[in-house]
Amino acid sequence: MNAVVFHAKGDIRFETVPDPKIELGTDAIVRITSAAICGTDLHMVRGTMEGMKPGTILGHEGVGIVEEVGKEVRNFRPGDRVVICSTIACGYCSYCRSGYYSQCDNANPTREGTAFFGGPESTGPFHGLQAEYARVPFANIGLVRLPPEIDDDAAILLSDIFPTGYFGADIADIHPGDTVAVFGCGPVGMFAIVSAFHFGAGRVIAIDKVADRLTMARKQNAETVDFGAEDPVATIRQLTGGIGVDRVIDAVGIDAMSSQQPERRTPWQGGDRPGQVLEWAVQCVAKAGKISVIGVYNEQMKDFPVGTCMMKNLSVHGGNCNHRKYVPELVEMVRAGVFDPTGILTQRKPLASAVDAYRHFDAREAGWEKVELVPAAA
Ligand SMILES: NC(=O)c1ccc[n+]([C@@H]2O[C@H](COP(=O)([O-])OP(=O)(O)OC[C@H]3O[C@@H](n4cnc5c(N)ncnc54)[C@H](O)[C@@H]3O)[C@@H](O)[C@H]2O)c1
Ligand SMILES: [Zn+2]
Ligand SMILES: [Zn+2]
Repeated sequence: MNAVVFHAKGDIRFETVPDPKIELGTDAIVRITSAAICGTDLHMVRGTMEGMKPGTILGHEGVGIVEEVGKEVRNFRPGDRVVICSTIACGYCSYCRSGYYSQCDNANPTREGTAFFGGPESTGPFHGLQAEYARVPFANIGLVRLPPEIDDDAAILLSDIFPTGYFGADIADIHPGDTVAVFGCGPVGMFAIVSAFHFGAGRVIAIDKVADRLTMARKQNAETVDFGAEDPVATIRQLTGGIGVDRVIDAVGIDAMSSQQPERRTPWQGGDRPGQVLEWAVQCVAKAGKISVIGVYNEQMKDFPVGTCMMKNLSVHGGNCNHRKYVPELVEMVRAGVFDPTGILTQRKPLASAVDAYRHFDAREAGWEKVELVPAAA
């Protein structure tokens, strides 16, 4: 089959690889009809998230048709149309049973952190979903059935980024009327904005410096702040009567840029200030406020302004999304028309042109907010 394969930092290729096979009775093989590129993939190709094993198929967002199931998969059969949860979970350990699917004891053989498709060696590694076929471990839990009303363009957003934005708003503990700052207007930030309003936020202030991403945030009713043109902390204070925001959602992570980082970047260049959003978050949040960290950081990252955090009685809650906790509920909400996620998908490209699509998305070019990759497209 054909797939997008990681070789080295800045070196990814579309190439022919062996077809996946059922390895355990709990596996399923899914024929991928839609995949996507995520900001998390960028951290790995840029090398800001290290430890990728050369030869790993990239991608952790997928929709498809079940092709084959192992003996222990009793809830799906070949032909079923499904969305694949990005993180892998067993469904039977105590963490899974409490809804902490991303901290599953069994999915990750190293037992260190979250298991997900197409990630660094420490996450499994498991081959990813930017491919024609994929092996899905613990398929009874990792697959969620799709109703025919939800097409692939909507379903692909339910695999990772919508649940992640929703998780970010959920763990921010938003109360009706709260003012919420969302740092980062990439696709994850966009779903964090939508979800913050869903949980009752009175105002959402969205911060980025990419013009068309700020435009998209305004379309979701956020008040926007361009950190390339103004000091975001001073602006947020001024917009909130000097108090600050009640809640912050960090949807940027390790590749955070400072205001000084020049617009013209070289390909696969990360941010110049990994701790920037965390610094701005503790500065712009009100006393006793809460910070939700869904942007991804590596384990080497040690800069967090704990002093100010402690002095202001802040709470911080972060992590990898517990996808399986949210995907079934979000599938129902999309089916019922509560949310239409498709406004956030801006590109639909053949899987064969994935490497080129990665370059456009990495450069944050106008119109490249979220890229769907379609294996069957010419
Ligand atoms: N926790 C999870 O389970 C989970 C799941 C999916 C993605 N993620 C993470 O969410 C983050 C966002 O993903 P994405 O796909 O939207 O990525 P993206 O790269 O498309 O978006 C990041 C955005 O942040 C902006 N940005 C950079 N520095 C900033 C700063 N200092 N202040 C405000 N904005 C800044 C960039 O301009 C860009 O628009 C990534 O770190 C990704 O790894 C986490
Ligand atoms: Zn992702
Ligand atoms: Zn588990």
